[in-house]
Amino acid sequence: MNARVEEAPAPLDVARLRADFPLLARRVHDKPLIYFDNANTSQKPLAVIQAVDRFYRETNANVSRAVHTLGEEATSAYEATRDKLARFINAPSREEIVFTSGTTQAINLVAYSYLLPRLQPGDEILVTTMEHHANIVPWQLLGDRAGAKIKVAPITESGELMVDRFIDLLTPSVKLAAVVHVSNVLGTINPVAELARAARKRGIPLLVDGSQALPHMPVDVRAIGCDFYTLTGHKMFGPTGTGALWARKEILRDMPPFFGGGEMIREVRFDGTTYADPPHRFEAGTPNIAGFVGLGAAIDYIEGIGRERIVAWERELLAYATAALESVPGLRIFGTAKNKAAVISFLIEGVHAHDLATLLDHEGIAVRSGHHCAHPLMQFFGVPATVRASLAFYNTRDEVDRFVAAIGKVRKLLA
Ligand SMILES: Cc1ncc(COP(=O)(O)O)c(C=O)c1O
Repeated sequence: MNARVEEAPAPLDVARLRADFPLLARRVHDKPLIYFDNANTSQKPLAVIQAVDRFYRETNANVSRAVHTLGEEATSAYEATRDKLARFINAPSREEIVFTSGTTQAINLVAYSYLLPRLQPGDEILVTTMEHHANIVPWQLLGDRAGAKIKVAPITESGELMVDRFIDLLTPSVKLAAVVHVSNVLGTINPVAELARAARKRGIPLLVDGSQALPHMPVDVRAIGCDFYTLTGHKMFGPTGTGALWARKEILRDMPPFFGGGEMIREVRFDGTTYADPPHRFEAGTPNIAGFVGLGAAIDYIEGIGRERIVAWERELLAYATAALESVPGLRIFGTAKNKAAVISFLIEGVHAHDLATLLDHEGIAVRSGHHCAHPLMQFFGVPATVRASLAFYNTRDEVDRFVAAIGKVRKLLA
């Protein structure tokens, strides 16, 4: 009998891929740049930069309005990204992809269009301790308006969601649960399919914030089984000001518009306006057309590499960087989940996060220091800030070595 052999993906040629990113060749403070701030925003490959440039040079026109050649070309280039994104996350239909400026706008759209009309005083919205402010504050604003409350599912000291507690908290008063797929601070990958199954069983819609998942791993919204999935283009090698909400067609059909204006209507009359079908119903005004064309190029680029290969390389790089950092005396890592993406938050005893990040910058190393838009998580760990090194597939072992050597140097100065 033939045993089926799982083939390991071919390794990435990182040196060759780095050549696709012009910015990675920069020097900062006369040192070669080491860019470890990818969770904040990722760098852009030439294919994305050229797609945006080419759009403005050759195609620029508004979408869905003009019948002239440029207008039709611009519309089809913009709409092609909707098809690509639908395929990229395995959405059942392109009509389920609503373009937004990013995850923040996508979550606010769900908050005001889907949830607000359904909220009653006393209702609850379930989130977790590890959420980004974008997945907390919109729900708090709704709660203030509707007399609803936020309920918080706890995490462990190692930064893992307490799944049983999350499920216990899915009570009948919860009208929506919202959870991050990959934590931007801890790197924790949450078991979103399991959470979606539990939520569905209880008839509670689940929103998954996928901002940090798309750059690191394959995402399949059908396999997850959630109701809403949000993403941000600039973290997945696309332009800023691009992103999307995915939601099931039946849900979108029932949602009223959130922004009003051009593009989102069927007919405007002073005695009553009718609205376009989703997704255009939620896309009022002129969008970031060139940006979405660039996002399409980013998707092509990632698919050209292969997400399984990205996962394999980043897993190796994360293990290498974690081991190297653990050897630094006095260094504490926040977030040691078994299943995590290549994001490492840490502090060094006696060293302020901002001082460390500033001195690392003098070594040409870009990391983020601060609360990472996750105040409640900082409160949980009892620290005001951490330093975060967030890696992408174009980072190398050599960069990790230079990073750890620079930390050693800075530590001697500050600790
Ligand atoms: C987990 C997470 N959610 C939401 C956001 C917000 O994304 P954007 O600012 O692109 O809307 C971020 C950005 O850092 C994030 O990391």
